[in-house]
Amino acid sequence: MKYYLFFILSPFLYSSVIDNSFITKYEYGAMLYKNPRGVGCIKCHKNPKEKEIFAKYLDKGNIEKIITIPPISKLTYKKFAKVLRAKKNSSLIMPTYFLTTAELRSLYFYIKNIK
Ligand code: HEC
Repeated sequence: MKYYLFFILSPFLYSSVIDNSFITKYEYGAMLYKNPRGVGCIKCHKNPKEKEIFAKYLDKGNIEKIITIPPISKLTYKKFAKVLRAKKNSSLIMPTYFLTTAELRSLYFYIKNIK
């Protein structure tokens, strides 16, 4: 009798396990933003909505140069994906990433919806 009950209930037990471990697209994007199999975006783009100063230095003529990090929350998906799929050396600062389309979509979703 006990066993029957287990078999009847098991699909319910199982589905609740799935529900608990399911992470939303937003959470997945947030996770990738911190750890995208490479240097975390968050290390440089601290706040995706704001422009940040990455570095300041003096050039040969002793003139101050500032390297800035642009806000990334207003880009179209097309532009966003193009930047992240760019081959090595197209940016002097940003690392090259090898993210899948699903990962790019989650990251983009997170950046667009960040509170
Ligand atoms: C080492 C610092 C650094 C890291 C890490 C980094 N970025 Fe960037 N990112 C920059 C800088 C600096 C720019 C400005 C353009 C340039 O110099 O390449 C930029 C530009 C961009 C742009 C283009 C913005 C525009 O308006 O053209 C996007 C999109 C972007 N980053 C997204 C990301 C995402 C997503 C990640 C993580 C997967 C990431 N970046 C990781 C420094 C970084």
